[in-house]
Amino acid sequence: MQRTILVTGGAGYIGSHTCLELLAAGHDVVILDNFANSSPRAVEAIQHISGRSVEVAQVDVGERRAVDEVFRRYGIDAVVHFAAHKAVGESVSQPLRYYSNNVGGLMALVEVMEANDVRQIVFSSSCTVYGEPSRVPITESFPLGAHSPYGRTKLMCEDILRDVARARSDWRVSLLRYFNPAGAHSSGDLGEDPRGIPNNLMPYLMQVAVGRRERLSVFGNDYPTRDGTCVRDYIHVVDLAVGHLAALDELLAEGPGCRAFNLGTGTGTTVLEMVAAAALAVGRPIPYVIEDRRPGDVAAVWADPTLAMGTLGWKATRTIDDMCLDHWRWQSRHPFGFGDEEPAGS
Ligand code: UFG
Repeated sequence: MQRTILVTGGAGYIGSHTCLELLAAGHDVVILDNFANSSPRAVEAIQHISGRSVEVAQVDVGERRAVDEVFRRYGIDAVVHFAAHKAVGESVSQPLRYYSNNVGGLMALVEVMEANDVRQIVFSSSCTVYGEPSRVPITESFPLGAHSPYGRTKLMCEDILRDVARARSDWRVSLLRYFNPAGAHSSGDLGEDPRGIPNNLMPYLMQVAVGRRERLSVFGNDYPTRDGTCVRDYIHVVDLAVGHLAALDELLAEGPGCRAFNLGTGTGTTVLEMVAAAALAVGRPIPYVIEDRRPGDVAAVWADPTLAMGTLGWKATRTIDDMCLDHWRWQSRHPFGFGDEEPAGS
């Protein structure tokens, strides 16, 4: 059944890919984005690729009155909430900014939803809510406890939504805990466009490959893993986007409540394996140097995605090679992302 879905942060990396899946499934999409860390060109790409138009509200999710207007104007049925800051290091130096934007933003959104009798939300969470897991793979029943202000904002948002769903039995909440998103849309015209120096492995690797950076720093090769570098569960952003659609379908079809799901592949890949896969996709070696460990990194993290498979009928199907090929197609067609030239200070 066709619905009108509000996607906050819909111009961002995961948000934009999710918009495409929602449109392909026949839903109408309203994007709410302040474009603080995203580009209106992502919206153009969504419309171009899907052949459909989307409504856009350039609004900060914390602006209650403006968000309320969006709900009234478009008759929103359900929300997929991405809009948030997401850099772990930055959250350590600017904690108030993170609490205010991420937790304050969710509070404002939920209050507006309540006032408009819209009680169906898919929330963008992270495997960071598991902190330093005692073992792998991680299931949803592992103890929760984040280690950075960013992580704590995700955990607080989960707690708020859990409490809201407990207090009113008609709330339907899906908490999606992502592992490590990578890749891009297969068209090569929609992908990740980080501002400044990328924090994450894949965008950094690809900026080295395209010549924007000299070499990758591999943070530590003395971890207790098969090649000494950290293991992560990289998941193709399109698989992740399809996971949101599956969660939304299930949420709309099933009864009320609040549930959390891991969105990962169940397979771990080391940093050096990722470098090798990227080199294969790019067709030449990618220069790297081994450096000290990055503070806060955990040796190995990967998901047990069984619950999402069983309950949502969702499974990641794309491989590490697919992620590298698609990410490279995007990066090589758009060396500077959605901009036309090298951004100042990058
Ligand atoms: N890495 C490098 N060099 C780089 C960047 C990363 O060697 O330039 C390594 C990291 O040390 C780590 C791996 O690549 O071993 C993955 O690092 P990312 O920064 O890409 O991803 P993380 O697993 O550290 O972080 C991700 C999300 C966060 C989230 C965290 C929770 O990006 O939002 O998982 O575990 F908080």
